[in-house]
Amino acid sequence: MTILVTGARGHVGGQVLAQLLDAGEKVRAASRDASTLDVPGGVETVSFDLENPDVRALDGVRAVFLYTRPQGIEKFVDAARRAGVEHVVQLSSSATLEPNSENRIAVLHRAVEQVLAASGLAHTVLHPGHFASNTLGWAAEIADGVVRTPYPDARVGAIHEADIAAVAVRALTTGGYRGASLALTGPEPLSFREQATIIADVLDRAVKLVELSADEARERMAHQGLPDGAVDAILRSWANALDEPSPVTNTVEEVTGTAPRTFATWAWDNRARFS
Ligand SMILES: NC(=O)c1ccc[n+]([C@@H]2O[C@H](COP(=O)([O-])OP(=O)(O)OC[C@H]3O[C@@H](n4cnc5c(N)ncnc54)[C@H](OP(=O)(O)O)[C@@H]3O)[C@@H](O)[C@H]2O)c1
Repeated sequence: MTILVTGARGHVGGQVLAQLLDAGEKVRAASRDASTLDVPGGVETVSFDLENPDVRALDGVRAVFLYTRPQGIEKFVDAARRAGVEHVVQLSSSATLEPNSENRIAVLHRAVEQVLAASGLAHTVLHPGHFASNTLGWAAEIADGVVRTPYPDARVGAIHEADIAAVAVRALTTGGYRGASLALTGPEPLSFREQATIIADVLDRAVKLVELSADEARERMAHQGLPDGAVDAILRSWANALDEPSPVTNTVEEVTGTAPRTFATWAWDNRARFS
């Protein structure tokens, strides 16, 4: 039986794919346009748009790693049931762990969680906090030696995408963690200033940090293709992390048996992406 990985070129989906292949699992890698996927030879690929899912992509699939796309989720659930899918692992967000949060990110991810919960399909929900890979947005600035960010002293437990993937792979391959809601973070809260310093050290470069106002940041983030309202939700969460660092959890270690990777490890693993 096959495991379908949606978003197989995404930061997290790419790691899920790689780790499933390492584990010897039979995998089908999905993208909206499979012809653009760069996967190891012999790996099956499929074009699959979650906003208009085609049941044929689920043929023979036992488990699915699912990116959150509210539009089309009912159709996905229907197709998954018809195909006999036994387990869905959803990449959601820590935003939905705040009860009744109406922020845009929470609303979008909760919409998919609710449909899965009502679907009767066995499922596991991953709630990662801030991704370490968000700092890839600094790549051009790091090359120029000046990183501009709002709230440079906001402290977040940035998580390595390989650790999110490791938890997903454990659930997908064991069939365990059904009904579980897993809050995932990196090992320690670090400020954006500290993260920039760690990347600079790994690259052996000098990097200066310049603080942006929330309005300046809003203006820059408006062009990043985030859903409406998401920019404000992100800025609010960073502002909150100034006074109180976002909480860290032990979940990665509890599920995988290995402590979550440090931000320094993430920077080292991704150093080529800053050159
Ligand atoms: N960044 C953070 O700090 C953070 C924190 C918590 C949660 N999250 C959540 O994590 C997710 C982003 O993860 P990521 O960084 O791994 O994403 P990413 O690298 O931006 O990749 C997104 C993937 O989604 C796929 N995709 C987009 N639209 C699709 C559709 N209609 N149908 C099927 N696939 C589609 C894309 O595949 P193709 O382009 O190949 O089709 C791509 O591989 C978001 O849901 C975000 O809210 C992020």
